[in-house]
Amino acid sequence: MAQFDVIELIEDTKQGNALDAERVTGFVTAFMAGEVTEAQASAWMMAVCLQGISDDAASALTAAMVESGKLVDLSELDHTADKHSTGGVGDKVSLAACPLAAAAGSIVAKMSGRGLGHTGGTVDKLESIPGFRTDLSAKDFRAQAQRVGLVIAAQSHDLSPVDKRLYALRHDTATVDSPPLIAASVMSKKLAAGASAIVLDVKCGRGAFMQSPEEADHLARLMCHIGESQGRAMAAAITPMDQPLGRAVGHALEVTEAVEVLRGEGPPDVAELALQIATSMVLLSGAAPSLDDARARVEKARSSGSALDKLAEMVRAQGGDRRVIDDPARLPSARSIDVLRSPTSGRITWLDALRIAEVVESLGGSRRGRKAIDHSVGVRLLRKQGEDVSPGDPIVEIHASDPSSLDDAKTRIGRAMRVGDPAAPDPTQFEIRWIT
Ligand code: URA
Repeated sequence: MAQFDVIELIEDTKQGNALDAERVTGFVTAFMAGEVTEAQASAWMMAVCLQGISDDAASALTAAMVESGKLVDLSELDHTADKHSTGGVGDKVSLAACPLAAAAGSIVAKMSGRGLGHTGGTVDKLESIPGFRTDLSAKDFRAQAQRVGLVIAAQSHDLSPVDKRLYALRHDTATVDSPPLIAASVMSKKLAAGASAIVLDVKCGRGAFMQSPEEADHLARLMCHIGESQGRAMAAAITPMDQPLGRAVGHALEVTEAVEVLRGEGPPDVAELALQIATSMVLLSGAAPSLDDARARVEKARSSGSALDKLAEMVRAQGGDRRVIDDPARLPSARSIDVLRSPTSGRITWLDALRIAEVVESLGGSRRGRKAIDHSVGVRLLRKQGEDVSPGDPIVEIHASDPSSLDDAKTRIGRAMRVGDPAAPDPTQFEIRWIT
């Protein structure tokens, strides 16, 4: 067979010429076979970053990436559903939405990532539950999906192995933030994980990778196009990520908040997003005949406690201490808890998700520069954007393992927040926009 002409591919992509599926597939095959060097792959991805590629070329790239590894075969299971978030701050939606969807009739089989950049990962959050195992084999993953109806595990290395190599190159060559490359990376792993329905939560704003509604919209539509072209039922929500979602940021604190949502409590933004995502999973997976019916089932799963029971069942199945679901105080807790009080009166007009994430990182809540994550640390936002404060009111609760980090955290939180005129219009609108 003729050698794949990667130089011509790079040149054509650089000129913005159309690429057919065969050439994009040829690139992945040749890269995996060692016929395309890392320098050439990086040059091609930079050309993709600068010129873009068509949606069909992005679909072909994704399909070839899926082919590079194994597939989880869920085809004999009915109503399988998965969800994915592009990453945010305080985003514990999977921990609530997946049990809700599972208790409402879907089989939820989700492989999750660890934290990426400043965003937290579901797998890291789940690992704050003592004993909880996320490293399941594909066989155990499938078996638990069938037996329990709910499994959330770490991304298996066998799925889309080319993504791991390309992602490392993208990280080193400033080619991460390209919609077709992000879409192919995310969707290759989602498609390989096998669910027939995939619901996406594309975050948009200061604390997200997509900063503008246009970018988020483009990425969401592209990922839906890719999934649909591979025969999956797709939906995407674009959701705000300027301030953190909910009130808790930090692993164990977020698990607690997700449990609160499943108990019928919890912050309204997290609860509504979890309910909508779960509804979409139930509808798309065919477990309910209509949107209204899917929503009613999901609400019942919450009010009856069956979603909470489903979460407890999953925790037990994966070796975790299920008693934390009844009593989240059993989760790791920080040694020092302090409160930041408002120095002034007014309305919180700005609460920067990215800076809050950096505070939690500085307390030890991320892997960056450290050997292990401290699951106990984080913040609880007692006041959020649009809420009023008076002098001395507690506004943020800080959970730290090292008491000497508290002062720095308080200074950083002060920089992440602005208190303005109490008559200022409420800037906060938690608007969930669906693309189906
Ligand atoms: N998450 C991924 O898995 N891949 C990307 O490219 C970006 C976010």
